[in-house]
Amino acid sequence: MRIILIGPPGAGKGTQAVAVKSKFPVDHISTGDILRENVRAGSPLGIEAKKFMDSGSLVPDVLIIEMMRERLAKVSVGFMLDGFPRTVAQAEALDELMKEMSMPLDAAILLEVPDETVVKRLGGRRVCSSCGAIFHVTGNPNKIEGICDICSGPVIQRDDDREEVIRRRLSVYHKNTAPLAEYYEKSGLLHRVDAGGPLDAVKAHLESVGL
Ligand code: AP5
Repeated sequence: MRIILIGPPGAGKGTQAVAVKSKFPVDHISTGDILRENVRAGSPLGIEAKKFMDSGSLVPDVLIIEMMRERLAKVSVGFMLDGFPRTVAQAEALDELMKEMSMPLDAAILLEVPDETVVKRLGGRRVCSSCGAIFHVTGNPNKIEGICDICSGPVIQRDDDREEVIRRRLSVYHKNTAPLAEYYEKSGLLHRVDAGGPLDAVKAHLESVGL
């Protein structure tokens, strides 16, 4: 299975990817997670990417495409891309790459969520900076404040989850990423999923499109 998850920040891509991965043998590849690892490691990519991430802008296509070319070369089973592609240029580069690797995409899943729901979700999101587990202060709180339920690592608020940065990320999404719906609709790969409801409802919607 080779699928991509598209959706605004806070749509639940990371959360639902964990559920899908528990059912199917797929490699979950999150561009946001790879970038944050590079930022933590202080790599040249991380130093460059941080400037864009902190302000809620997109990291330049040329850096992301090269990063994904390297990552996809390591895929041995199926994959689920979370946060890539995010521009039409990235989608075209992915098509080229899939052609070179003789691995056509099976589906593009668009998680649709209203902007105000995104602001509420991301304002309350907390993440484990060690294992990446995702929590929410009211919807899915970790049991002991500041400590991850899964690995006991530190649970923090992401720098880009401040309201002004969330709103900037949303506007970047509508301008640069939303056009991908039309791109994948044309190739017959698009499945729209209502992701604005509670977790179980979203899971059920995903099951109805085969995930
Ligand atoms: P990235 O980390 O990919 O962020 P994002 O796309 O903005 O998505 P998020 O991780 O914020 O949200 P999500 O949809 O995974 O939601 P989650 O499951 O956590 O990217 C960060 C930055 O990196 C970008 O801004 C950019 O700078 C750069 N970048 C990354 N990829 C790039 C690319 N391809 N090109 C250029 N730059 C790139 O859920 C959110 C919260 O809601 C959680 O607290 C969760 O518990 C809760 N929640 C989830 N679902 C529900 C539900 N159904 N009901 C109630 N609460 C829910």
